[in-house]
Amino acid sequence: MARSAFSRSSKNWKNQPLALSILRLWLGVTWVYAGWNKATDSGFLNAASSHYIGTQLTGYLGHSPISFLLRKMIEHATLVGWFVMLSEFAIGLAVLSGVAISLAAIGGAGMSAMLWLSSSWSVKPYFLGSDTAYLVLWIVLLVLLLQKPRVGKGKGSKGGSIIQEVIPDLTNRREVVRLVGVGVVAIAAAFAGGALKPKIAVPTSGSAIAKLSDVPLGSTYSFTATDGTPAILFRTKAGVFAYSAVCTHQGCVVAYSPSSHLIQCPCHGAAYDPNQGAAVVAGPAPAPLAKINVAISGANIIQI
Ligand code: FES
Repeated sequence: MARSAFSRSSKNWKNQPLALSILRLWLGVTWVYAGWNKATDSGFLNAASSHYIGTQLTGYLGHSPISFLLRKMIEHATLVGWFVMLSEFAIGLAVLSGVAISLAAIGGAGMSAMLWLSSSWSVKPYFLGSDTAYLVLWIVLLVLLLQKPRVGKGKGSKGGSIIQEVIPDLTNRREVVRLVGVGVVAIAAAFAGGALKPKIAVPTSGSAIAKLSDVPLGSTYSFTATDGTPAILFRTKAGVFAYSAVCTHQGCVVAYSPSSHLIQCPCHGAAYDPNQGAAVVAGPAPAPLAKINVAISGANIIQI
């Protein structure tokens, strides 16, 4: 009997074409790996790190057509980071297990589209960035999932509406248990990754922030202050000085812009002059950035 490539009643690995198995395996494993990669990255949710989700989003602002949306996301960057990581785990697990797989395919397509419009929008030509390829793979998976059987229609075929195909049947206890199972495993994987990631050392007063040789004259260095907040260190001919990287407006993480020579906030446009005690020179910030006392001690730079 001819059958659809992947009907609602065959959400397992046996009754599907080889091509669909390859597609599910690749997308499922890749999405779980992407989640694991973030869960085990000490910097992904650490505002003092260059890998921090907020720092990554800030880097996309200059070229993304959805920068207005990214600014909103930066305001809640850590929450966005958790959402992205858990979504990647959940989507990957759903695709591998066959639970709410159409919904997972829509989620995967949405994430790939967002990544294309933010991180790889500036990649030219477009085919050098992988996000467009993933977007197409997710759409192909969704189309295959929603294909109706061509033969046997109306004879035992469930053939419901597209919405019925996509939305999990929450009146079915077994389906609900499987959905909860995917969610629980996703959360457990995120915490397992968090337990395995190397801890970032927070300096105590007097301990080295960086080797002097790692911060050349005229450069900046991001570090975590003794109170755990992100901070920016400057080294000039006059010596070293540092400021908290937490914006005094609503707490977004600021970054130094070498082109403007100012410390800028990606959220609402505040700008601070590092050579004037981090005084506010633009935007809604009510006060300068907090100063952090640092000094050169032998071959190191320390917080005092
Ligand atoms: S948080 Fe609003 S300008 Fe920085």
